[in-house]
Amino acid sequence: MFRYGADYYPEHWPEERWPVDARLMQEAHINTVRLAEFAWSRLEPSDGNYDFAWLDRAIEVLHDHGIDVVLGTPTASPPPWLAQSHPEIYRVDEQGRRLTYGNRREYCPHSPTYREFARRITLAMAEHYADHPAVIGWQIDNEFGDPCYCELSRQEFQVWLQHQYGSLHNLNTAWGTIFWSHVYTEWSQIPLPVATGGVPNPGLELDFKRFSSASYVGFQQEQIDILRAVCPKQFITHNFMGFTYDRIDYYDLARNLDFVSWDNYPRGFWREGVDLPAVALGHDTMRSLKRQSFWVMEEQAGHAGWTTMTPAPRPGEIRLWSWQAVAHGADAIVYFRWRTSRFGTEQYWHGILEHHGQPTRRYAEVQQTGEEFARLGDLLTGAETRAQVAMLMDYDTRFAFQGQPNQAEFSYPAYFLSWYKALHRFNVGVDIVKPGTNLSGYKLLIAPAPYILTPDLASSLENYVRNGGTLVTTFRAGVKDYFNAVVERPLPGLLADTLGIVVEEYDPQPVGQGNHIIFSHRELSRLASSAPVRVWCDVIEPRGAEVLATYGEGYYAGRAAITLNRVGAGRAVYVGALGDTELHEPLVAWLLAASGVEPVLETPPGVEATVRWQGGRRLLFVLNLNAEATTVRLPATHDLISGRDLAGDILLPGYGVLLLSEG
Ligand code: GLA
Repeated sequence: MFRYGADYYPEHWPEERWPVDARLMQEAHINTVRLAEFAWSRLEPSDGNYDFAWLDRAIEVLHDHGIDVVLGTPTASPPPWLAQSHPEIYRVDEQGRRLTYGNRREYCPHSPTYREFARRITLAMAEHYADHPAVIGWQIDNEFGDPCYCELSRQEFQVWLQHQYGSLHNLNTAWGTIFWSHVYTEWSQIPLPVATGGVPNPGLELDFKRFSSASYVGFQQEQIDILRAVCPKQFITHNFMGFTYDRIDYYDLARNLDFVSWDNYPRGFWREGVDLPAVALGHDTMRSLKRQSFWVMEEQAGHAGWTTMTPAPRPGEIRLWSWQAVAHGADAIVYFRWRTSRFGTEQYWHGILEHHGQPTRRYAEVQQTGEEFARLGDLLTGAETRAQVAMLMDYDTRFAFQGQPNQAEFSYPAYFLSWYKALHRFNVGVDIVKPGTNLSGYKLLIAPAPYILTPDLASSLENYVRNGGTLVTTFRAGVKDYFNAVVERPLPGLLADTLGIVVEEYDPQPVGQGNHIIFSHRELSRLASSAPVRVWCDVIEPRGAEVLATYGEGYYAGRAAITLNRVGAGRAVYVGALGDTELHEPLVAWLLAASGVEPVLETPPGVEATVRWQGGRRLLFVLNLNAEATTVRLPATHDLISGRDLAGDILLPGYGVLLLSEG
C-alpha cells in the first residue's frame, strides 16, 4: 500500500479540532500520520507517571477516518522534569560548554541515566501500543545528531579505543603519537578532540568521529531491541537527513532498521534556492543505504523557517518534489507538517494548512497529489531501481576530510555532488555504495577522492576493474590508511598499479585560481576541447596508462592530468584535478558510452528521467524540474497520471510530471 501522510501534532490543538483534521486528511487521501515524536512531556508528565489516554483518543479519531499511525519514540526532546532532576544528561559541545534546557536534541547519547529514561518511555509506549490495530510502526527518536564532549563521553571513548586497539602500543603506533610527544601510557590520558585543544591528531580525530557515530547506532539499538521484542508486528524506522548530514555513518544506522526514512526540504532555510539534482542525490543515497525503497517521513509542505522564512513553494512544487521522491524509490510521502504551529520555535515552519487551519492552495495541491498516488500507488509501491552506475561514498573518508580538507575550498560532499550531477544530467540511475559492496553488477563506478583506502577497498576496486568494470577515481585517492596516517608509498598508494600511474607531485591551487586541461584523447576531444580546473592539480607520471588530458598552463603544462589504464577486462581512469560541469559532463558522456550504459531518456536541461521496475513492468518518470514549460521528445507511450497517449515532442508544463509505462 502506498503510504501518504502528514506529521501531526494533536497535542498542539484543542480536542474538538481533531475530527475536523481527520476529515480534511481523509479528503486529501491521507492514510498515515506520524505522531508523538515530541510528546514526552505529555506522555510522561512526571517521573514514571504515564498518560496515554489523550494519544489513544487522537488515534481513535484518526483510525475512524481510515488513517494509520506511525509513533515516534519521543526521546529527541526530554521533558523539563528530567532536565531538572538529572542535569548531567546534557551534551557538552565541542567548545566544552554544557548545553542547557530549552531546545531539543541536547542529550548525551552516552549518559546511562538518559539511556535508562529513554528505554523506559520506549518500553511503556511499546507495551501500550503493541497490539493497537491503527499503529503500523515506529520512528525511533528524531534525526539523530551531534557528538558529545563531556567527561563521561571521554571515558566511553577510551573504553571504545581499548576494544578497537587492544593495547596502547597499537594505538600509539597507529596514531603516530610520538609526534609532539603524545605517547600515551594510560588509556585515561587520551583526550577528546575539543575545539579549544587546537588541531588534533588526525588518528584521534577520525576515531572520535567513528566512535560518536557508533554511539548513536548503539543508542538506537537499545530502542530497536525493545520494540522488536514487544511489537514484532510493527516496523521500525528512523528519519535520516539525506546525503548532506555527515556525523553518523548512515549505512551503520540503517542496518537494523526495517527501512530508511528521511526528511526532505528542497527549499530549506539553510540553502538558497532549490537544487533538485542535489535532492535526487539525497533520495538515491537513502535508497542505497539498504538497497530498498524508503519513506520520506518529512516532505516539505510550506515555507520553511524558524525566525525568518523561505519563499512559499511555488504552485506545483510540492507535487513535483513528492513525485521526484517516488521516482527515486520512495514508497511513502509524509508531509511536514499537517498544520502550521501557532507557537514554539517552529511557528514559521509551514505545514499543509496555515495557522488558521483552513484549506488553501497547498492543501489543494496535496489533495491532487494524493489522488494520483491513491490511484497509482499499487503500481509504485515496492518498485525496484536497477542502477548500472554506482558512486562510492565512504563515511571514513568524509570524516577524515572534515578534519583536514587538504585545500581551503575542497569539500568532499560538494565534489561528490558535482560528479553526481553529471550522471543526473544524462539520466542514468545511480546507487551510492559503501566500501565492501559487491560491485559486480555495475558497469561504471565513480569513486571521488577515496582518501582513506584500506587494502580491502583497494583490492575490491582492482578486482572490479579486472572483471570488466570501468572505475573512475581522482586526486586524493589512497592518501591515508585506516588510521588516518599518510601511506608510505607514492600516490595513489594502493591503487597505483591498477591506475598505471604515479603522482609525481601535487599542487593545491590558491583559492580562486586554477589551471585548465586539454583533452587529448580522440573521442573525448570531440566532446570538448578543454575545461577549467581549480582547487587541486596532481602532476601524473603514466606507468602504462594512456593520457586522456594534459595541463594547459604553468610549470607542468603538457603533463598528464587525466589517464586511462586497461587492466584485465576493464579500465581505470584517474582524474588528477578538480573540475566542474565543463570537465565532468564530457567525461561522463564518454564514459557512459564506453562502458555501455544507456541513459534512460535524452532530455533537455532540467528535465529528469528515472526508471523503476514493478516486476517486469518498466515505469518511466519524466519530471520537469524547471519553472518554465519545456519540450521533451518521447517515444510512443502512455501517461498513467493523465491517462493520455503521447508521442514525439511534448510540451511539459513547468514542474510537470509524467509517469510513462510501456507495459
Ligand atoms: C526537522 C525535524 C522536524 C522539524 C523540521 C523543521 O526535519 O525532524 O521536527 O524540526 O526539521 O524544522
